[in-house]
Amino acid sequence: MMKIAVYPGSFDPPTLGHLDVIKKASSIFDRVIVSVVENPNKKATFSKKERVRMLKKMTKGFKNVEVDTFKGLLVNYVKKKRANFIIRGLRAVSDFEYEFQMALINKKLNPQAETVWFLPFIEHIYISSSIVKEIAKYKGNISCLVPEEIVEDIRRKFK
Ligand code: PNS
Repeated sequence: MMKIAVYPGSFDPPTLGHLDVIKKASSIFDRVIVSVVENPNKKATFSKKERVRMLKKMTKGFKNVEVDTFKGLLVNYVKKKRANFIIRGLRAVSDFEYEFQMALINKKLNPQAETVWFLPFIEHIYISSSIVKEIAKYKGNISCLVPEEIVEDIRRKFK
């Protein structure tokens, strides 16, 4: 059976931590679908189109990774894609409660899909999209926080 994984998220913007998760997933699954969705609890800075473009740039080298978007419930999208895994990144214990609840709900709604958590590499564990935006807003150096292919896209947004 093909191992197909969906990696959903806001990716507003994507970071080196997201790239770590994509790298790890790409080496384990046959197909990885990185999919951008609006999180109703967060107001996005980058449009969906901008986020997709950045994700495509930074994953160009991965043959089994594709970038997509979806609307509505993740479990429905996962079914539509015939995926059997949902990927999420975990950075700290503080992420766990929300992620645990989400995994259990998704499992209840679609028992065919298993949630798998990945840790970013340790040197990127502290990076978040909000930190990247704050540093970019004050014209700080973000090149150690996001993939080099998208540094300019982020800087341009805060000019
Ligand atoms: O990167 P984020 O914002 O932490 O990702 C959260 C996301 C987008 C994966 C989550 O909000 C989600 O799955 N949204 C789609 C709607 C849905 O299925 N909600 C029920 C999950 S509890």
